[in-house]
Amino acid sequence: MDLNKIQNLKNQAISGILEVNSASELERLRIAYLGRRGELNELLKQLGQLPTNQRVEAGRQINDAKQAIEQTLQSQKNSLPDSSKINDWLDITAPGKKPALGHLHLISQTIEEIAHIFEKIGFQRVRYPEVEWDWYAFEGLNMPPEHPARDEWETFFIDNLHHPKLGRGVLTPHTSSGQLRQMEAQKPPLRMLNIAKCYRRQADASHAPMFYQFEGLLVDQNIAITHLKGVLAYFAKQYFGPNRQTRIRPFHFQFTEPSFEFDVTCIVCNGKGQIEGKRCPVCKQGWMELGGSGMVHPTVLKNGGIDPEKYTGFAWGWGVERLFMMKYGIDDIRLLFGGDLKFLEQF
Ligand code: DAH
Repeated sequence: MDLNKIQNLKNQAISGILEVNSASELERLRIAYLGRRGELNELLKQLGQLPTNQRVEAGRQINDAKQAIEQTLQSQKNSLPDSSKINDWLDITAPGKKPALGHLHLISQTIEEIAHIFEKIGFQRVRYPEVEWDWYAFEGLNMPPEHPARDEWETFFIDNLHHPKLGRGVLTPHTSSGQLRQMEAQKPPLRMLNIAKCYRRQADASHAPMFYQFEGLLVDQNIAITHLKGVLAYFAKQYFGPNRQTRIRPFHFQFTEPSFEFDVTCIVCNGKGQIEGKRCPVCKQGWMELGGSGMVHPTVLKNGGIDPEKYTGFAWGWGVERLFMMKYGIDDIRLLFGGDLKFLEQF
């Protein structure tokens, strides 16, 4: 053996390694040069045959060659494209990776469910602007400027947006603004379902600054409170199931006369108002309010171009999130807007 042989082997190994572009081929070269029966070990075995004065130098060079080959193998391995590493093996019996499957947000699900229930009894879903004029949101609904009832709607007004006849621009504080727009668009008989985003300056466990309402409006001849009761009870039974009880209570809204609030038995205490001898923390009395309703005020009909002597109607406006919360016993509206998958994936 001469020392040139070691250098040649080293150079040959390095240039061979640098041309390889698959991990399996690199492994093959590693075994060929560095393996137990590899070329370098063969050289080491021959060391004994050398005269003592050359043996030390040859041993040093073999070690040096070994290190250089190891380093080249490593760096070539690191520079391989990812795909070449993946394609290295294929186990067709390995279990497949399931891509995470999403679903509609639970508010969207609820909206679809509501629309579907009302569609069956002839209510047509519509949408109106989220940026609305004061007339549609308040004044046309029998709430003139400065009327104290407006305080209930903590309204976002829009700077520098003003209509000469319809007043200031606002973010829709409730879906009731769709009532007049619908009356302008369609003559009775009409059945409208307006599901939309609403905005109010409010934020706590049961109020979000942006939330959804669904507004119903039915106008026809000879419409009475019994129709209102029947339609809303039908909806509650469809949405909550046959065992939930509902009731209506007298209330006041400017745009309906008479006006009501509509309650459903509380899911948390099962309508008892008590849990283990203590007051129910969610409803306190066994009933939960779902929203307002009433017989459309004659002034509102007139403002919508409908003759109140000839036609009557009823309307309601309820919160979408509230409905959902009362179906599943959720006590904080912020969970619905939080984007926490651990919560959202349950529905
Ligand atoms: N717009 C009312 C609110 O946001 C709810 C409401 C009450 C709507 C009575 C109606 C109704 O259509 O008749 O609080």
